[in-house]
Amino acid sequence: MTFRTTARVAVAAALALSLAAGARPVRADDDKPTNLKVLPKDITGNDLHEVMNGWSQALGVHCDYCHEMKTPGDFRSMDWASDKVGHKEVARRMYTMMAGLNTTTLPKAAGAPGAAVSCVICHRGLPSPTTLDKVLVAVTREKGADAAVGKYKELRTQYYGSGTFDFTPRALQAVALTLADDKATLDAALTIAKLNVEQNPTAASAQVVVAQILDLKQDKVGAMAAIDAALKLDPQDRHALFLKRQLTQPGNGQ
Ligand code: HEC
Ligand code: HEC
Repeated sequence: MTFRTTARVAVAAALALSLAAGARPVRADDDKPTNLKVLPKDITGNDLHEVMNGWSQALGVHCDYCHEMKTPGDFRSMDWASDKVGHKEVARRMYTMMAGLNTTTLPKAAGAPGAAVSCVICHRGLPSPTTLDKVLVAVTREKGADAAVGKYKELRTQYYGSGTFDFTPRALQAVALTLADDKATLDAALTIAKLNVEQNPTAASAQVVVAQILDLKQDKVGAMAAIDAALKLDPQDRHALFLKRQLTQPGNGQ
């Protein structure tokens, strides 16, 4: 595949994506682009705007995240060709990286010719792709568990349903278990595990994590109560049954 075809395929993919997302083209800009280094130089104005809308949505940003706005707040002062904003050059490198992945590396690794990534597959509405558990572990270590609870609620309000973050019990479970690995953050782990129960009251797995942490804190009675709560929600929960067997085995006391 020539670079030109590659770029066309990528533009088509970006187009399909932004159309699927229901993007509307921004107001037409009849000026021919003068500073394209990675997109095909003969791209039509409409296609260029579709690609730009797609990138903006994928990263959850506005045009001026990458483009210079000469007068703050004034959209008419946009200098589209300018390379002054550093994110624009990063976006070019991202595009080049993606084209490389999609033309050779990925189809080869996947063993399927159509295998491809797009900006949104990695970014999911964030300029810096990350995961909920990574964010919350970092906030807990920096500012404590209460701050992490606040952050969780803030992100949930902003992003629930968008697919940007995982709000199933799995993410908070991962945070709690990561924090439980370190004695210094065991109490913080319990706070997060209780948040998980509060946010996911029907998830047996959330109760199991509370039980695991209470067990680590030598609170056998509390741990058993959490296991019973888990088994009430799901009598077949294998993890809960396993913990119950462990806790009730004679000679289990440390
Ligand atoms: C994530 C960064 C990013 C965002 C967000 C972004 N762009 Fe771009 N834009 C670029 C890059 C990079 C280029 C240059 C592409 C190249 O070098 O081939 C570009 C080029 C352009 C050009 C051509 C400029 C020229 O003369 O060369 C226009 C017009 C443009 N973008 C409009 C927009 C609009 C409108 C939006 C908002 C809907 C937008 N862009 C959002 C990164 C971005
Ligand atoms: C394979 C995954 C992947 C793909 C595909 C991808 N990105 Fe990225 N992108 C990343 C990662 C990871 C970072 C670094 C985040 C950080 O700084 O922690 C990043 C960072 C960026 C940044 C800088 C953000 C910042 O905070 O400075 C921009 C801009 C960007 N990507 C644009 C794009 C655009 C536009 C596309 C599609 C053409 C794209 N990316 C495709 C993974 C990806």
